[in-house]
Amino acid sequence: MGIDFQGRVAIVTGAGGGLGRQHALALAQRGAKVLVNDLGGAVDGSGGTVTAAQAVVDEIRAAGGEALANGASVTDFAAVEAMVQQAIDAWGRVDILVNNAGILRDKSFAKMDMADFRLVVDVHLMGAANCCKAVWPHMVAQQYGRIVMTTSSTGLYGNFGQANYGAAKLAQVGLMQTLAIEGAKYNIHVNALAPTAATRMTEGLMPQEVLDALKPEAVVPAMLVLAHESAPSRTILCAGAGTFEAAHITLTQGIHLGIGADVPEQLAARLAEVTERAGEQVPQSGAAQGTNEVGKALAR
Ligand SMILES: NC(=O)c1ccc[n+]([C@@H]2O[C@H](COP(=O)([O-])OP(=O)(O)OC[C@H]3O[C@@H](n4cnc5c(N)ncnc54)[C@H](O)[C@@H]3O)[C@@H](O)[C@H]2O)c1
Repeated sequence: MGIDFQGRVAIVTGAGGGLGRQHALALAQRGAKVLVNDLGGAVDGSGGTVTAAQAVVDEIRAAGGEALANGASVTDFAAVEAMVQQAIDAWGRVDILVNNAGILRDKSFAKMDMADFRLVVDVHLMGAANCCKAVWPHMVAQQYGRIVMTTSSTGLYGNFGQANYGAAKLAQVGLMQTLAIEGAKYNIHVNALAPTAATRMTEGLMPQEVLDALKPEAVVPAMLVLAHESAPSRTILCAGAGTFEAAHITLTQGIHLGIGADVPEQLAARLAEVTERAGEQVPQSGAAQGTNEVGKALAR
């Protein structure tokens, strides 16, 4: 099956540069009408102008595609609702949402200002939630939707100096897990992409040779697969430099110890059995994990 988006309408947030720009160009090139959102600020989220989004729209139009620019901050729910309405007014529907907008405020946790922690959570988590909330009723009504969150290896595995960013990025995976479950009956598929790419966000962090290998274009195929009609749901795809992997939040088989005064000592003594990875599974939901625990207790 070709990865084609004819007749589809996509919103890509933070698409004035970096990965978002590549996502928007690729979706448009494969037939989607694209609303290009970008606040147009600096990498730390300060400032703002719609010029960056407009430049990407101009590129798409020059290549024969259809696009609209929007300068809303994803943190402003009223502006996000107006952004979705802009797409609906122009094209009648929204099929795809790529939550890509993001900022960095890196510092070791000891030195981190809580205002910078809150701002990073606001842009990544609340920004994604605002956009999901605004497109959700339209996707439910049309019984179709594809949502791509942008998580990060920092959220999945941690990186020095990025406590705020890592927390906000893994929060998007949490949002994805439940929206995928709630969206299933409406044919709304929700997935997460963990990109690695040389953009202004990663400037100065890696040597030039590595930056050259990490072209943002190399991430785009993963986004296209997650945004397409044939997309899976509840999948975390990692993509960088042309390599693609899946990350899973797994659960070990564990052991049942019951309730008793010496359970702390038993648990400490048998911790290696609890963390043993053979036979790991990915539960279908949080409730399924709880049911599994109760099941072991009742089986005694
Ligand atoms: N580059 C990487 O290696 C990497 C790794 C993991 C995750 N990511 C994520 O990928 C996404 C894209 O990052 P990038 O590397 O292309 O960086 P980038 O700085 O080039 O792109 C981020 C874009 O988001 C926009 N933006 C910021 N705040 C916004 C807001 N409130 N509303 C609307 N737009 C806003 C910025 O103006 C910018 O154009 C981000 O979510 C980032 O966290 C990137």
